[in-house]
Amino acid sequence: MKKLLFVTGMFTLFMLQSCYYDNMEDLYPDNGGTTCDTTNVTFNLTVWPIIQSNCTGCHSGSAPSGNVSLENYNDVVVSVENNKLMGTIRHESGYSPMPKNSSRLSDCNISQLETWINHGYPDN
Ligand code: HEC
Repeated sequence: MKKLLFVTGMFTLFMLQSCYYDNMEDLYPDNGGTTCDTTNVTFNLTVWPIIQSNCTGCHSGSAPSGNVSLENYNDVVVSVENNKLMGTIRHESGYSPMPKNSSRLSDCNISQLETWINHGYPDN
């Protein structure tokens, strides 16, 4: 029951946020003082810098951690399509929380990744 309330709560928060997002991001740049830019999100411009600073240290090379490589566009798309990427990044139950042994990505980075996926993961 507690879990259901929590999930419902998170969902409501998420819905509220997405409704207000477009208008509020210009008016209230409150992500630690910087605006969260979710316009024109592409792999090269937005996603790759996030992955490269937080993930490729473990997920690249000949023996990537967990056998998951995130070295390039195609690799990342594999993890999107097998539904593991966002589960790990959002720290959902049933997924190993990533980046491993460090704090969750910023809410802004997480929404940028969500936007990218919702837009059909444009390459550039
Ligand atoms: C410090 C090393 C390290 C970093 C940094 C790291 N990972 Fe991982 N990752 C692992 C290990 C080790 C595993 C294997 C599962 C485990 O041990 O938790 C793994 C597993 C995974 C899996 C498979 C999870 C599953 O449930 O099958 C995905 C997807 C993943 N990582 C994505 C990411 C993403 C995305 C990032 C960056 C935001 C990231 N990882 C950062 C070490 C890391």
